[in-house]
Amino acid sequence: MKLKSKLQGSRAVLTVPGDKSISHRAVMFGALSQGRTTVDGLLQAEDVLATIEAFRAMGVDIHFSENGEVLTIEGRGFDGLKPASQPLDMGNSGTTTRLISGILAGQAFETELFGDASLSKRPMDRIAVPLRMMGAEVDGQGERVLPPLKIKGRKGLKAIDYRLPVASAQVKSALIFAALQADGKSRIIEKEKTRNHTEDMLVQFGGHLEVQGKEIFIEGGQKLTGQELTVPGDISSASFWLVAGLILPNMEIVLKNVGVNETRTGILDVIKAMGGELEISEFDAKAKSATLTVRSSELKATRIEGALIPRLIDELPIIALLATQAEGETVIADAEELRVKETDRIAVVADSLKKMGATITATDDGMRIQGKSRLHGAQLDSHGDHRIGMMVAIASLLVQEGEVELAGAEAIRTSYPSFFDDLEALCQSY
Ligand code: S3P
Repeated sequence: MKLKSKLQGSRAVLTVPGDKSISHRAVMFGALSQGRTTVDGLLQAEDVLATIEAFRAMGVDIHFSENGEVLTIEGRGFDGLKPASQPLDMGNSGTTTRLISGILAGQAFETELFGDASLSKRPMDRIAVPLRMMGAEVDGQGERVLPPLKIKGRKGLKAIDYRLPVASAQVKSALIFAALQADGKSRIIEKEKTRNHTEDMLVQFGGHLEVQGKEIFIEGGQKLTGQELTVPGDISSASFWLVAGLILPNMEIVLKNVGVNETRTGILDVIKAMGGELEISEFDAKAKSATLTVRSSELKATRIEGALIPRLIDELPIIALLATQAEGETVIADAEELRVKETDRIAVVADSLKKMGATITATDDGMRIQGKSRLHGAQLDSHGDHRIGMMVAIASLLVQEGEVELAGAEAIRTSYPSFFDDLEALCQSY
């Protein structure tokens, strides 16, 4: 695909698709509850479809309304899942794989999980170790327990008292799902606070847990009840337009109905720290959503590290692009988790932006990015990583000299199938 900037200034109003993390969990909690769950605003992208298909294969009736907008899940409870007749295809989705493993750990049958080439390189030892401690059998390839996985669960898991060695909402969530099927009370201690959609949704479905700082206490054997849910827009998808609005000349971009759960808003803190013009309006405390407006800004470099990292982990590729346009050197540290995402995002981000003329040094746990770079055309590849593909597409809007050629743009369907329609809308609103 060839990308060339046609932009010279505009105002655009966009509504990004539903939050990916919330959408996965809505399907899972719906399947594990008693009664019907309806979900409005669900993200209909490949990752979430992998979750839906996996539960259908385990006997859960899940269907879309005629207009395709509302998903209905006929819950079967923790005791109602059936063994799948074939291995389950997780596609590219680490979230599906890890969260479903926690669910399968408490089921008295064996399931095989496999995925694409990228998923087959994602470490699963981080879930295998604690789930084995709870009594499940989890097998994968090699020391890092790479997919394909075989999970042989059992009823009556042992409760766990576990300190997470990595800051990961996926691992935490897998353990919450397993703890809900264990005898007694589990304690999970986070390394850093990560997105808390699983905790929020458990309470929404009538369950309970106790959160004290980084400690989560959770009782096994809870019964959950189906709910009517509405999913807000994904701040991770919105972040591409936030950055576009800040770095392109004479721009104003308004993003409606964006999820602003405080465990996800690290990018907003970074934008403020860099001096970006950002307005938050129409805040809805119950839905945890708001309208975000950004305008072209003079930006300055910043340091991004520590507890901030899990609050913007998926936004770091596009934040790296933002930093190439700021005054000074931006440092990203404590982000070694980026190396085990859909690609090694430290290497791939640094490489891609360097090919476009930016000055970036990859470090073990992050990057050092020099600002005020003039980007030029180059031949680039998403390497099968949706967020790299979208970052490159936004970077191409800055290019005045040459053309950007992006191979593997189809990876973007993983989380944002209508991305190029929205990009077109942005270009036409000029
Ligand atoms: C997610 C958690 C994060 C994030 C991923 C979605 C989730 O992964 O990168 O895109 O929905 O729980 P980790 O838990 O591996 O950090």
